[in-house]
Amino acid sequence: MNRKKIAVIFGTRPEAIKMAPVIKELEKHTDQFETQVIVTAQHREMLDQVLKVFDIHPHYDLNVMERNQTLSDITMKVLKGLENIFIEDKPDMVLVHGDTTTSFAAALAAYYQQIPIGHVEAGLRTYDKYFPFPEEANRQLIDNLADLFFVPTELTKQNLIKENKPENQIFVTGNTAIDAIAFTRKLEMEHPVLDKMTSDKKWILLTMHRRENQGEPMKQVFQAVKQIVEEHPEVAIIMPVHLSPSVQASVKEMLNGHDRILLTQPLEVDVFHKVISKAHIVLTDSGGLQEEAPAFDIPVLVLRDKTERPEGLEAGTLKVIGSDKNSVYRAVDELLTEQETYNGMALAENPYGDGTASKEIVVKINKFFSKK
Ligand code: UD1
Ligand code: UDP
Repeated sequence: MNRKKIAVIFGTRPEAIKMAPVIKELEKHTDQFETQVIVTAQHREMLDQVLKVFDIHPHYDLNVMERNQTLSDITMKVLKGLENIFIEDKPDMVLVHGDTTTSFAAALAAYYQQIPIGHVEAGLRTYDKYFPFPEEANRQLIDNLADLFFVPTELTKQNLIKENKPENQIFVTGNTAIDAIAFTRKLEMEHPVLDKMTSDKKWILLTMHRRENQGEPMKQVFQAVKQIVEEHPEVAIIMPVHLSPSVQASVKEMLNGHDRILLTQPLEVDVFHKVISKAHIVLTDSGGLQEEAPAFDIPVLVLRDKTERPEGLEAGTLKVIGSDKNSVYRAVDELLTEQETYNGMALAENPYGDGTASKEIVVKINKFFSKK
Protein backbone atom coordinates (compact mmCIF):
# COMPACT_ATOMS: atom_id res chain seq x y z
CA MET A 1 0.00 0.00 0.00
CA ASN A 2 1.27 3.49 -0.85
CA ARG A 3 1.61 5.92 2.02
CA LYS A 4 -1.79 7.61 2.45
CA LYS A 5 -2.30 11.26 3.29
CA ILE A 6 -4.83 11.69 6.11
CA ALA A 7 -6.12 15.22 6.73
CA VAL A 8 -7.35 15.62 10.31
CA ILE A 9 -9.60 18.68 10.53
CA PHE A 10 -10.98 20.46 13.59
CA GLY A 11 -11.66 23.94 14.90
CA THR A 12 -13.04 24.01 18.44
CA ARG A 13 -11.72 22.99 21.86
CA PRO A 14 -13.62 19.71 22.27
CA GLU A 15 -12.80 18.49 18.76
CA ALA A 16 -9.13 19.26 19.35
CA ILE A 17 -9.10 17.32 22.64
CA LYS A 18 -10.78 14.28 21.10
CA MET A 19 -8.78 14.34 17.84
CA ALA A 20 -5.39 14.82 19.51
CA PRO A 21 -5.09 11.13 20.50
CA VAL A 22 -5.99 10.11 16.92
CA ILE A 23 -3.26 12.39 15.54
CA LYS A 24 -0.74 10.96 18.01
CA GLU A 25 -1.67 7.43 16.96
CA LEU A 26 -1.53 8.20 13.22
CA GLU A 27 1.88 9.77 13.74
CA LYS A 28 3.18 6.47 15.13
CA HIS A 29 2.62 4.94 11.67
CA THR A 30 4.70 7.16 9.40
CA ASP A 31 5.36 4.19 7.11
CA GLN A 32 1.63 3.99 6.30
CA PHE A 33 0.32 7.51 6.82
CA GLU A 34 1.28 11.10 6.24
CA THR A 35 -0.75 13.04 8.81
CA GLN A 36 -1.82 16.53 7.89
CA VAL A 37 -3.41 18.64 10.64
CA ILE A 38 -5.74 21.39 9.43
CA VAL A 39 -7.35 23.71 11.97
CA THR A 40 -10.13 26.13 11.11
CA ALA A 41 -9.71 28.02 14.41
CA GLN A 42 -13.49 28.37 14.81
CA HIS A 43 -12.20 28.83 18.35
CA ARG A 44 -8.93 30.72 18.69
CA GLU A 45 -7.65 30.93 22.26
CA MET A 46 -9.51 27.81 23.44
CA LEU A 47 -8.12 25.81 20.51
CA ASP A 48 -4.57 27.06 20.98
CA GLN A 49 -4.64 25.95 24.62
CA VAL A 50 -5.26 22.37 23.49
CA LEU A 51 -2.67 22.43 20.70
CA LYS A 52 -0.11 23.49 23.28
CA VAL A 53 -0.89 20.73 25.79
CA PHE A 54 -0.72 18.02 23.11
CA ASP A 55 2.19 19.70 21.29
CA ILE A 56 0.38 19.70 17.92
CA HIS A 57 1.58 22.02 15.15
CA PRO A 58 -1.02 22.42 12.40
CA HIS A 59 0.03 22.38 8.76
CA TYR A 60 -2.76 24.81 7.88
CA ASP A 61 -4.68 27.30 10.01
CA LEU A 62 -7.72 28.97 8.43
CA ASN A 63 -8.00 31.37 11.39
CA VAL A 64 -11.74 31.92 10.81
CA MET A 65 -12.83 33.05 14.30
CA GLU A 66 -14.56 36.38 14.71
CA ARG A 67 -16.25 37.73 17.82
CA ASN A 68 -19.98 36.89 17.69
CA GLN A 69 -19.55 34.91 14.47
CA THR A 70 -22.70 33.49 12.88
CA LEU A 71 -23.09 29.90 11.79
CA SER A 72 -23.15 30.98 8.14
CA ASP A 73 -19.89 32.94 8.59
CA ILE A 74 -18.14 29.82 9.90
CA THR A 75 -19.65 27.51 7.26
CA MET A 76 -18.73 29.72 4.30
CA LYS A 77 -15.17 30.42 5.41
CA VAL A 78 -14.41 26.78 6.23
CA LEU A 79 -15.97 25.47 3.00
CA LYS A 80 -14.00 27.82 0.80
CA GLY A 81 -10.75 27.61 2.78
CA LEU A 82 -10.73 23.82 2.67
CA GLU A 83 -11.62 23.65 -1.00
CA ASN A 84 -8.39 25.43 -1.85
CA ILE A 85 -6.31 23.13 0.39
CA PHE A 86 -7.97 19.92 -0.87
CA ILE A 87 -7.43 20.85 -4.53
CA GLU A 88 -3.79 21.66 -3.86
CA ASP A 89 -2.92 18.80 -1.45
CA LYS A 90 -5.32 16.01 -2.49
CA PRO A 91 -5.61 14.09 0.82
CA ASP A 92 -6.61 10.42 0.55
CA MET A 93 -8.97 10.70 3.51
CA VAL A 94 -10.44 13.45 5.67
CA LEU A 95 -11.19 12.85 9.36
CA VAL A 96 -13.74 15.05 11.12
CA HIS A 97 -15.11 14.86 14.64
CA GLY A 98 -18.56 15.07 16.20
CA ASP A 99 -21.02 17.79 15.41
CA THR A 100 -19.57 21.27 15.17
CA THR A 101 -20.06 23.61 12.24
CA THR A 102 -16.37 23.18 11.40
CA SER A 103 -16.90 19.41 11.12
CA PHE A 104 -20.01 19.72 8.96
CA ALA A 105 -18.42 22.26 6.59
CA ALA A 106 -15.24 20.17 6.39
CA ALA A 107 -17.23 17.03 5.54
CA LEU A 108 -19.11 18.92 2.84
CA ALA A 109 -15.88 20.33 1.37
CA ALA A 110 -14.38 16.82 1.30
CA TYR A 111 -17.50 15.38 -0.33
CA TYR A 112 -17.40 18.02 -3.07
CA GLN A 113 -13.85 16.83 -3.87
CA GLN A 114 -14.96 13.17 -3.58
CA ILE A 115 -12.48 12.48 -0.77
CA PRO A 116 -13.43 9.61 1.62
CA ILE A 117 -14.60 10.89 5.00
CA GLY A 118 -14.04 9.24 8.38
CA HIS A 119 -16.39 10.48 11.10
CA VAL A 120 -15.01 10.15 14.62
CA GLU A 121 -17.76 10.10 17.29
CA ALA A 122 -20.43 9.29 14.71
CA GLY A 123 -23.99 8.18 15.40
CA LEU A 124 -24.96 10.35 18.41
CA ARG A 125 -28.57 11.46 18.18
CA THR A 126 -31.40 13.19 20.01
CA TYR A 127 -33.57 13.17 16.86
CA ASP A 128 -34.67 16.71 17.67
CA LYS A 129 -33.01 19.07 15.22
CA TYR A 130 -33.14 22.04 17.61
CA PHE A 131 -31.66 20.20 20.66
CA PRO A 132 -28.79 20.71 20.66
CA PHE A 133 -28.76 23.44 18.01
CA PRO A 134 -27.19 23.23 15.49
CA GLU A 135 -25.23 20.12 16.52
CA GLU A 136 -28.02 17.58 15.97
CA ALA A 137 -28.40 18.65 12.34
CA ASN A 138 -24.63 18.87 11.87
CA ARG A 139 -24.01 15.29 12.97
CA GLN A 140 -26.86 13.86 10.92
CA LEU A 141 -25.60 15.75 7.86
CA ILE A 142 -22.03 14.53 8.42
CA ASP A 143 -23.22 10.92 8.75
CA ASN A 144 -24.98 11.28 5.40
CA LEU A 145 -21.65 12.18 3.80
CA ALA A 146 -19.28 9.88 5.71
CA ASP A 147 -17.67 6.65 4.47
CA LEU A 148 -16.28 5.32 7.76
CA PHE A 149 -18.21 5.68 11.01
CA PHE A 150 -16.24 5.48 14.26
CA VAL A 151 -18.91 5.19 16.94
CA PRO A 152 -18.24 5.33 20.68
CA THR A 153 -20.78 2.69 21.76
CA GLU A 154 -23.04 -0.13 20.57
CA LEU A 155 -26.07 2.14 20.97
CA THR A 156 -24.64 4.74 18.58
CA LYS A 157 -23.95 1.94 16.11
CA GLN A 158 -27.62 0.93 16.30
CA ASN A 159 -28.68 4.51 15.51
CA LEU A 160 -26.73 4.34 12.26
CA ILE A 161 -28.00 0.90 11.34
CA LYS A 162 -31.57 2.16 11.77
CA GLU A 163 -30.66 4.92 9.32
CA ASN A 164 -29.50 2.29 6.79
CA LYS A 165 -25.81 3.14 7.02
CA PRO A 166 -23.63 0.21 5.85
CA GLU A 167 -22.94 -1.99 8.89
CA ASN A 168 -19.53 -3.11 7.64
CA GLN A 169 -18.34 0.51 7.72
CA ILE A 170 -19.43 1.17 11.32
CA PHE A 171 -16.83 0.48 14.03
CA VAL A 172 -17.43 0.62 17.78
CA THR A 173 -14.23 2.09 19.19
CA GLY A 174 -15.05 3.76 22.52
CA ASN A 175 -14.68 7.51 22.88
CA THR A 176 -11.33 9.19 22.24
CA ALA A 177 -12.06 11.53 25.20
CA ILE A 178 -10.98 8.64 27.42
CA ASP A 179 -7.73 8.32 25.42
CA ALA A 180 -7.14 12.04 25.98
CA ILE A 181 -7.54 11.55 29.74
CA ALA A 182 -4.97 8.74 29.63
CA PHE A 183 -2.58 11.27 28.05
CA THR A 184 -3.18 14.17 30.47
CA ARG A 185 -3.03 11.90 33.56
CA LYS A 186 0.68 11.42 32.86
CA LEU A 187 1.46 15.15 32.82
CA GLU A 188 2.91 16.99 35.80
CA MET A 189 1.17 20.29 36.45
CA GLU A 190 0.77 23.14 38.88
CA HIS A 191 -1.92 25.78 38.71
CA PRO A 192 -3.24 28.38 41.20
CA VAL A 193 -6.79 27.10 40.62
CA LEU A 194 -5.78 23.64 41.86
CA ASP A 195 -4.37 25.22 45.04
CA LYS A 196 -7.61 27.13 45.60
CA MET A 197 -9.70 23.93 45.43
CA THR A 198 -9.12 23.07 49.09
CA SER A 199 -10.40 19.76 50.41
CA ASP A 200 -12.48 21.34 53.20
CA LYS A 201 -15.14 22.22 50.60
CA LYS A 202 -17.39 20.16 48.33
CA TRP A 203 -16.58 21.64 44.93
CA ILE A 204 -19.20 21.80 42.23
CA LEU A 205 -17.68 22.18 38.78
CA LEU A 206 -20.03 24.26 36.62
CA THR A 207 -19.72 24.79 32.86
CA MET A 208 -22.36 26.14 30.47
CA HIS A 209 -22.19 27.36 26.92
CA ARG A 210 -24.83 25.82 24.62
CA ARG A 211 -26.65 28.20 22.30
CA GLU A 212 -30.09 26.92 23.37
CA ASN A 213 -29.19 27.65 27.03
CA GLN A 214 -27.93 31.19 26.47
CA GLY A 215 -30.01 33.99 28.02
CA GLU A 216 -32.92 33.01 30.31
CA PRO A 217 -32.13 29.28 30.89
CA MET A 218 -28.58 30.15 31.92
CA LYS A 219 -29.85 32.79 34.34
CA GLN A 220 -32.25 30.28 35.93
CA VAL A 221 -29.36 27.88 36.51
CA PHE A 222 -27.24 30.64 38.03
CA GLN A 223 -30.07 31.55 40.44
CA ALA A 224 -30.25 27.92 41.56
CA VAL A 225 -26.48 27.81 42.01
CA LYS A 226 -26.54 30.93 44.19
CA GLN A 227 -29.29 29.45 46.33
CA ILE A 228 -27.27 26.23 46.78
CA VAL A 229 -24.18 28.18 47.84
CA GLU A 230 -26.17 30.27 50.30
CA GLU A 231 -27.87 27.24 51.90
CA HIS A 232 -24.84 24.93 51.91
CA PRO A 233 -21.79 26.49 53.62
CA GLU A 234 -19.77 23.35 52.81
CA VAL A 235 -20.16 23.97 49.06
CA ALA A 236 -18.03 26.03 46.68
CA ILE A 237 -18.42 26.44 42.93
CA ILE A 238 -15.70 26.52 40.31
CA MET A 239 -16.67 27.76 36.87
CA PRO A 240 -14.17 28.14 34.02
CA VAL A 241 -16.14 30.58 31.89
CA HIS A 242 -16.47 29.91 28.14
CA LEU A 243 -15.30 32.82 25.97
CA SER A 244 -18.64 33.15 24.19
CA PRO A 245 -19.67 36.82 24.70
CA SER A 246 -23.22 35.79 25.64
CA VAL A 247 -21.96 33.44 28.37
CA GLN A 248 -19.49 36.03 29.63
CA ALA A 249 -22.28 38.63 29.92
CA SER A 250 -24.64 36.35 31.91
CA VAL A 251 -21.87 35.22 34.27
CA LYS A 252 -20.78 38.80 34.88
CA GLU A 253 -24.35 39.87 35.63
CA MET A 254 -25.25 36.96 37.92
CA LEU A 255 -22.23 35.24 39.49
CA ASN A 256 -19.56 37.86 40.06
CA GLY A 257 -18.36 38.76 43.52
CA HIS A 258 -19.30 35.73 45.67
CA ASP A 259 -16.51 34.39 47.88
CA ARG A 260 -17.49 30.75 47.30
CA ILE A 261 -17.95 31.07 43.53
CA LEU A 262 -14.59 30.84 41.80
CA LEU A 263 -14.77 32.13 38.22
CA THR A 264 -11.79 31.41 35.98
CA GLN A 265 -10.67 31.76 32.39
CA PRO A 266 -10.95 28.57 30.29
CA LEU A 267 -8.35 26.18 31.70
CA GLU A 268 -5.76 24.11 29.84
CA VAL A 269 -7.20 20.64 29.40
CA ASP A 270 -4.64 18.88 31.61
CA VAL A 271 -5.45 21.26 34.48
CA PHE A 272 -9.15 20.97 33.74
CA HIS A 273 -9.05 17.18 33.97
CA LYS A 274 -7.41 17.56 37.38
CA VAL A 275 -10.19 19.97 38.37
CA ILE A 276 -12.79 17.34 37.40
CA SER A 277 -11.01 14.79 39.58
CA LYS A 278 -11.18 17.18 42.58
CA ALA A 279 -14.87 17.99 42.08
CA HIS A 280 -17.72 16.50 44.11
CA ILE A 281 -20.37 17.08 41.41
CA VAL A 282 -20.22 18.21 37.78
CA LEU A 283 -23.05 20.50 36.68
CA THR A 284 -22.86 21.08 32.94
CA ASP A 285 -24.44 21.35 29.52
CA SER A 286 -21.20 20.18 27.87
CA GLY A 287 -21.11 17.08 25.72
CA GLY A 288 -17.52 16.07 26.50
CA LEU A 289 -17.92 16.38 30.25
CA GLN A 290 -20.68 13.77 30.21
CA GLU A 291 -18.05 11.31 29.01
CA GLU A 292 -15.07 12.52 31.04
CA ALA A 293 -16.48 13.02 34.55
CA PRO A 294 -17.61 9.37 34.92
CA ALA A 295 -14.01 8.34 34.15
CA PHE A 296 -13.10 10.14 37.39
CA ASP A 297 -16.13 8.67 39.27
CA ILE A 298 -17.81 12.07 39.52
CA PRO A 299 -21.62 12.31 39.10
CA VAL A 300 -22.86 14.55 36.28
CA LEU A 301 -26.05 16.61 36.35
CA VAL A 302 -26.84 17.60 32.76
CA LEU A 303 -28.28 21.07 32.25
CA ARG A 304 -30.34 20.13 29.19
CA ASP A 305 -33.74 18.64 28.41
CA LYS A 306 -32.28 15.89 26.24
CA THR A 307 -28.96 14.13 25.90
CA GLU A 308 -27.44 12.33 22.92
CA ARG A 309 -25.51 10.26 25.45
CA PRO A 310 -28.16 7.87 26.85
CA GLU A 311 -25.45 5.32 27.70
CA GLY A 312 -24.55 7.51 30.66
CA LEU A 313 -28.18 7.60 31.79
CA GLU A 314 -28.44 3.85 31.50
CA ALA A 315 -25.19 3.29 33.38
CA GLY A 316 -26.36 5.74 36.07
CA THR A 317 -23.47 8.21 35.76
CA LEU A 318 -25.68 11.07 34.46
CA LYS A 319 -29.00 12.68 35.28
CA VAL A 320 -30.71 15.04 32.84
CA ILE A 321 -32.15 17.89 34.92
CA GLY A 322 -32.98 20.68 32.42
CA SER A 323 -32.33 24.30 33.26
CA ASP A 324 -35.33 25.27 35.35
CA LYS A 325 -34.26 26.94 38.60
CA ASN A 326 -36.26 24.65 40.90
CA SER A 327 -35.32 21.39 39.23
CA VAL A 328 -31.63 22.33 39.21
CA TYR A 329 -31.79 23.29 42.89
CA ARG A 330 -33.56 20.03 43.84
CA ALA A 331 -31.17 17.81 41.86
CA VAL A 332 -28.03 19.39 43.33
CA ASP A 333 -29.49 19.46 46.84
CA GLU A 334 -30.37 15.76 46.57
CA LEU A 335 -26.81 14.82 45.62
CA LEU A 336 -25.44 16.90 48.48
CA THR A 337 -27.72 15.34 51.09
CA GLU A 338 -28.51 11.78 49.92
CA GLN A 339 -25.29 9.77 50.19
CA GLU A 340 -26.81 6.64 48.67
CA THR A 341 -27.96 8.48 45.55
CA TYR A 342 -24.54 10.10 45.32
CA ASN A 343 -22.67 6.80 45.60
CA GLY A 344 -24.96 5.15 43.04
CA MET A 345 -23.96 7.76 40.47
CA ALA A 346 -20.31 8.09 41.41
CA LEU A 347 -19.64 4.36 41.34
CA ALA A 348 -21.54 3.54 38.13
CA GLU A 349 -19.34 2.24 35.33
CA ASN A 350 -18.18 4.61 32.59
CA PRO A 351 -19.62 3.32 29.31
CA TYR A 352 -17.20 5.18 27.02
CA GLY A 353 -14.38 2.70 26.69
CA ASP A 354 -10.93 1.99 28.02
CA GLY A 355 -8.74 4.55 26.26
CA THR A 356 -7.95 2.51 23.14
CA ALA A 357 -10.35 4.22 20.71
CA SER A 358 -7.65 5.98 18.66
CA LYS A 359 -5.73 2.75 18.20
CA GLU A 360 -8.88 1.06 16.91
CA ILE A 361 -9.63 3.96 14.57
CA VAL A 362 -6.18 3.83 12.99
CA VAL A 363 -6.40 0.04 12.53
CA LYS A 364 -9.72 0.47 10.69
CA ILE A 365 -8.38 3.26 8.47
CA ASN A 366 -5.49 1.00 7.54
CA LYS A 367 -7.88 -1.83 6.67
CA PHE A 368 -9.98 0.54 4.54
CA PHE A 369 -6.98 1.32 2.35
CA SER A 370 -5.60 -2.23 2.23
CA LYS A 371 -8.94 -3.49 0.83
CA LYS A 372 -8.76 -1.01 -2.08
C1 UD1 B 1 -18.95 25.64 19.48
C2 UD1 B 1 -19.71 24.50 18.81
C3 UD1 B 1 -20.36 23.62 19.87
C4 UD1 B 1 -19.32 23.13 20.88
C5 UD1 B 1 -18.58 24.35 21.45
C6 UD1 B 1 -17.48 23.88 22.35
C7 UD1 B 1 -20.84 24.99 16.68
C8 UD1 B 1 -22.02 25.55 16.02
N1 UD1 B 1 -20.82 25.05 18.03
O1 UD1 B 1 -19.88 26.45 20.19
O2 UD1 B 1 -20.92 22.47 19.24
O3 UD1 B 1 -19.99 22.47 21.93
O4 UD1 B 1 -17.99 25.10 20.37
O5 UD1 B 1 -17.03 24.91 23.17
O6 UD1 B 1 -19.95 24.53 16.02
N2 UD1 B 1 -14.79 32.64 21.43
C9 UD1 B 1 -13.61 33.32 21.65
N3 UD1 B 1 -12.44 32.57 21.75
C10 UD1 B 1 -12.43 31.24 21.66
C11 UD1 B 1 -13.66 30.56 21.44
C12 UD1 B 1 -14.81 31.28 21.33
O7 UD1 B 1 -13.58 34.53 21.74
O8 UD1 B 1 -11.36 30.62 21.77
C13 UD1 B 1 -16.04 33.43 21.32
C14 UD1 B 1 -16.18 34.15 19.96
O9 UD1 B 1 -16.76 35.41 20.19
C15 UD1 B 1 -17.17 33.28 19.20
C16 UD1 B 1 -18.05 32.75 20.33
O10 UD1 B 1 -17.15 32.53 21.41
O11 UD1 B 1 -17.90 34.04 18.27
C17 UD1 B 1 -18.81 31.51 20.04
O12 UD1 B 1 -17.99 30.52 19.42
P1 UD1 B 1 -18.65 29.42 18.42
O13 UD1 B 1 -17.61 28.49 17.99
O14 UD1 B 1 -19.43 30.12 17.36
O15 UD1 B 1 -19.72 28.71 19.31
P2 UD1 B 1 -19.57 27.91 20.66
O16 UD1 B 1 -20.68 28.29 21.51
O17 UD1 B 1 -18.20 28.00 21.18
N1 UDP C 1 -12.39 21.86 28.92
C1 UDP C 1 -11.14 22.44 29.07
N2 UDP C 1 -11.03 23.60 29.79
C2 UDP C 1 -12.10 24.20 30.36
C3 UDP C 1 -13.38 23.61 30.18
C4 UDP C 1 -13.49 22.44 29.45
O1 UDP C 1 -10.13 21.92 28.57
O2 UDP C 1 -11.94 25.24 30.99
C5 UDP C 1 -12.50 20.61 28.13
C6 UDP C 1 -13.23 19.46 28.76
O3 UDP C 1 -12.33 18.63 29.47
C7 UDP C 1 -13.84 18.74 27.57
C8 UDP C 1 -14.07 19.84 26.57
O4 UDP C 1 -13.27 20.94 26.98
O5 UDP C 1 -12.92 17.83 27.01
C9 UDP C 1 -15.52 20.23 26.55
O6 UDP C 1 -15.66 21.36 25.77
P1 UDP C 1 -16.99 22.20 25.71
O7 UDP C 1 -17.78 22.01 26.96
O8 UDP C 1 -16.58 23.58 25.33
O9 UDP C 1 -17.73 21.56 24.46
P2 UDP C 1 -18.69 20.32 24.27
O10 UDP C 1 -18.07 19.12 24.87
O11 UDP C 1 -20.01 20.67 24.88
O12 UDP C 1 -18.84 20.21 22.78
